[in-house]
Amino acid sequence: VFLVVAGMLVAAVVRAKRDPDRSLDRREIGWGEPFIAVAGVFLPFVILAGVYVFSLQEMNELANRGKGAATNIEVIAHNWWWEVRYENSAVSANEIHIPTGRPIRLELTSADVIHSFWVPELQVKTDHIPGRTNHMWLQADEPGRYRGQCAEYCGLQHANMIFYVIAHEPQEFERWLAHEVEPAGLPEEAEAQAGAAIFMESSCAGCHAVRGTQAAANLGPDLTHFSTRTTIAGVLPNARSNLHLFVRDPHGIKPGVAMPPTELDADELDAVLDYLEALD
Ligand code: CUA
Repeated sequence: VFLVVAGMLVAAVVRAKRDPDRSLDRREIGWGEPFIAVAGVFLPFVILAGVYVFSLQEMNELANRGKGAATNIEVIAHNWWWEVRYENSAVSANEIHIPTGRPIRLELTSADVIHSFWVPELQVKTDHIPGRTNHMWLQADEPGRYRGQCAEYCGLQHANMIFYVIAHEPQEFERWLAHEVEPAGLPEEAEAQAGAAIFMESSCAGCHAVRGTQAAANLGPDLTHFSTRTTIAGVLPNARSNLHLFVRDPHGIKPGVAMPPTELDADELDAVLDYLEALD
């Protein structure tokens, strides 16, 4: 359309230059007005109305995709971590496990301020708004680990409010989900057992839940299967040395987090870390 219009403009300019008198000649052209009415009014109306109806349908389809999806996951944003709840009542944090190949419906809420859910490789952003439930869906066709990020400034650790979507083949996902809903087992090693006792008596249990034990608080992430997670607090690879760093002084890693530096002595801390590593 642009080229046709530009071509007609050039032709008019060239003709006017070649014959200056003629450009002032306002002869009636027989087909001029009908042409303007058809090409300038009727055709654009038909095309734009068609595109409008088509995009309404498409928008509706996109918005409702995932409605009635077999997998519904609740994601609750907190300053500055993500609580993830599955329909079978499994609870996890900072990692959202999904099956590949079908739309997954997400229910997004917030425990405090406005956050925004964003996995650039899978879907556009959707806000977590306090007092409101937003719905969205996403779908991963390939198994893998997809980086997610809070996309609404929410305070000191906004940039470190990281999560991962981990997509499995459907059967593998079912296995993962069936394991994730299990309560924590009793650790076998004496060190870890001692750590469990310290965990329950210290302030750890005041904020964290380990399903199957007396620790049932939910101010911080659920730690039931902590050792199977790929990260600590979304920011550090889940390894013993990092765990030690984080638990000893969380503010050294994520300044501003609600978790205080540990009050445990070195031996107690070691035992608690043994316990956390035994939560598989
Ligand atoms: Cu949560 Cu930014």
